[in-house]
Amino acid sequence: MYNIDKDIRKSATLPTSFYKSQAQFEKSIESIFASSWLYIGDLSDVNSPGYVYPFTLLEKVVDESLVISCDKQGALRCLSNICTHRGKIIVEAAGKMPMLRCGYHGRCFRLDGSFKSTPGFENAVNFPTPADDLTEVSLKETMGLLFTSLAPKMSFQEVFQPILDRLSWLPLNDLVYDAASSKDYYIDAHWALYCDNYLEGFHIPFVHPALNAALEGDEYSYELYSYCNLQLGVAKEGELSFDIPEGAEDYGKNILAYYYWVFPNLMFNFYPWGLSLNVIQPLSQHKTKVTFRTYFYKDQKATGIQNQLDQTELEDEAVVESVQKGIQSRFYKSGRFSPSMEKGVHHFHRLIAAFMK
Ligand code: FES
Ligand SMILES: [Fe+2]
Repeated sequence: MYNIDKDIRKSATLPTSFYKSQAQFEKSIESIFASSWLYIGDLSDVNSPGYVYPFTLLEKVVDESLVISCDKQGALRCLSNICTHRGKIIVEAAGKMPMLRCGYHGRCFRLDGSFKSTPGFENAVNFPTPADDLTEVSLKETMGLLFTSLAPKMSFQEVFQPILDRLSWLPLNDLVYDAASSKDYYIDAHWALYCDNYLEGFHIPFVHPALNAALEGDEYSYELYSYCNLQLGVAKEGELSFDIPEGAEDYGKNILAYYYWVFPNLMFNFYPWGLSLNVIQPLSQHKTKVTFRTYFYKDQKATGIQNQLDQTELEDEAVVESVQKGIQSRFYKSGRFSPSMEKGVHHFHRLIAAFMK
């Protein structure tokens, strides 16, 4: 239904109908979000035997009630949090518990989701069956971060391996969350407009003067993988950059940041001090929550991080909200891509077109 030419030199951007139609928004939730890998939380919050953690996957849009459970052996699972009796939500608050017990009529499930007991069913015939167990959905971990997918169209490894391979020299298993330098932003724009903006460094000289002063503009580059892409920011002389070990692919380069985008809604910005993870959560067709989560490499602590990130974020918000207004115009339907500077946006639009089929 959307046709994005694979040759960026000939291709036009997604039509505004994708961003403006309520029906297309709803379709994108099922076709894109329900079948991709979504960030759900940090391993360190849940990996304690007997701990269970309920959450709603993308509230009000995907809106699926799930629970992470850690069994007595420490194995983690992601389960449906809906009682198989009459459909009440089972676990309402996180905590340690020996089993999952529904507060409506007392049905109990083991921490692995299997049916355990239920009062009042002594005379039920052909009961229980596997349909009385809780449905288990996929749960994956990397870099201490947890991900789930309700119906994955691609393997977890396919999505993340390019990042893990490239950055294997970084202490990615020693990332420590820092609440003080993390923040939520609410933006009056479609979620994909926010991603479009992230996916190109074309606007940096125009929109981000401070960031532009730190980057070597001529050396900014784009690399595409199946479900993620990389923007490589090269630092000007004197700016903080990575100390890259010999043998690593980027040895000898003066890298300020690795900006990785993961389809559809995650941004992994690796800096010499740690990771800024951006989670883009659609709240409605024209409202988006952007969560900036800051993680420092163990024993690293940088100051002023929140201020720097905040400034760039506010500059981005302003242009994204302006585009949200702009695309309502009768006179704008679609535009063309810069073949050299908008490879990432083109990649994103190709993926949207493929998933919306
Ligand atoms: S709905 Fe859970 S026991 Fe009845
Ligand atoms: Fe930006």
